[in-house]
Amino acid sequence: MKIPLSRVYINETIKQRILAAVDSQNYILGKECEAFEQELAAHTGVKHCVLASSWTAAVHLLLLALKIKPGDEILTPAHTAFPGIEPIIHVGAKPVFLDVDETYTVNVDQMEASVTSRTVGLLPVHLYGHPAAIARVKAIADKHNLFWIEDCAQAHGATWNGQRVGSHGNFGAFSFFPSKNLTVFGDGGCITTNDAAAAERIRMLRNHGRKDKYVHEMVGFNLRFNEIQAAVGREQLKRLDEFNERRRKAVGWYRQRLSGMAQVRLPVERPGCLPVYHMFVVQVERRDALAKFLKEREIGTGIHYPVPNHRQPAITSLYRDLPRLPVTEALVDRILSLPIHPHLTEDEVDFVCRQIGEFYKS
Ligand SMILES: Cc1ncc(COP(=O)(O)O)c(C=O)c1O
Repeated sequence: MKIPLSRVYINETIKQRILAAVDSQNYILGKECEAFEQELAAHTGVKHCVLASSWTAAVHLLLLALKIKPGDEILTPAHTAFPGIEPIIHVGAKPVFLDVDETYTVNVDQMEASVTSRTVGLLPVHLYGHPAAIARVKAIADKHNLFWIEDCAQAHGATWNGQRVGSHGNFGAFSFFPSKNLTVFGDGGCITTNDAAAAERIRMLRNHGRKDKYVHEMVGFNLRFNEIQAAVGREQLKRLDEFNERRRKAVGWYRQRLSGMAQVRLPVERPGCLPVYHMFVVQVERRDALAKFLKEREIGTGIHYPVPNHRQPAITSLYRDLPRLPVTEALVDRILSLPIHPHLTEDEVDFVCRQIGEFYKS
């Protein structure tokens, strides 16, 4: 692709840091991991950060640490990445699927109305890098005495009310998958929190349930993090804020050029939020034909996500009482993710927008 959907940042310093980690002869949960956890906690604005081998692994450990049990329900939007609900199901609990609002984040009125005696927690998703309606989610959690986890997989560095995501909820959960705003050249994830006891339990569970090398206080897992990837993550974190700013700048160029096009609906920002545009998602007419037209001109696009989670075969075969979610079900046929990354140039954005204009003229 001449203009790919996203691009991973690599530089010489990162390569040197990888070699230094190799030479250290210490590969798992060492000094680099410790420093990365401290730096991530400080960047997010919380006391604790626990690394694990992915977002999915980290949230699985968290739900185990919280002793979530069969019959418990966790409210979460259906319009998100499928892994977001897997840990809930693996601990025997049930995801209750909700619709989204005009920012593609959870419909908080429906969230409030869906709380029952079985509800134990809330899992709002800061999808595409846009914070969910944090004040309302927090109010619902406080009123009903629920824990809430912010899914920050796509939102590293985004803020609401000047405060970073991952620090508002009881827990924040981040992914470092290669396409994310902060990456580690492989899989990875973490939990951020001010809850010292929960952080300690997750730390133990990720490492065979132990604090001491040969004393296992719980039956745990091996879902640890490693030194090479932590060294990469530490370098990427140094540039995160600057890169997020560049993403926002690219979005400004898109907005200038696309705002006059009747066939294209631009993303809406909620007041008080500073989104970090992990994805730049527009709603368009004749979506599939446009994606094909752009591909022929070597412009990468994506659909995040074409099948909502309440419509996935793995879910329809598990549950009978699945809801109708009209907003989600309509938008999945119209959404298109356009190229976005920190190194996208104004000329590239201009080219993409001109091609979109050409398509609708033809
Ligand atoms: C919103 C969201 N939640 C959760 C995940 C799962 O992250 P991971 O691949 O690190 O397990 C992803 C990434 O796929 C995601 O985009």
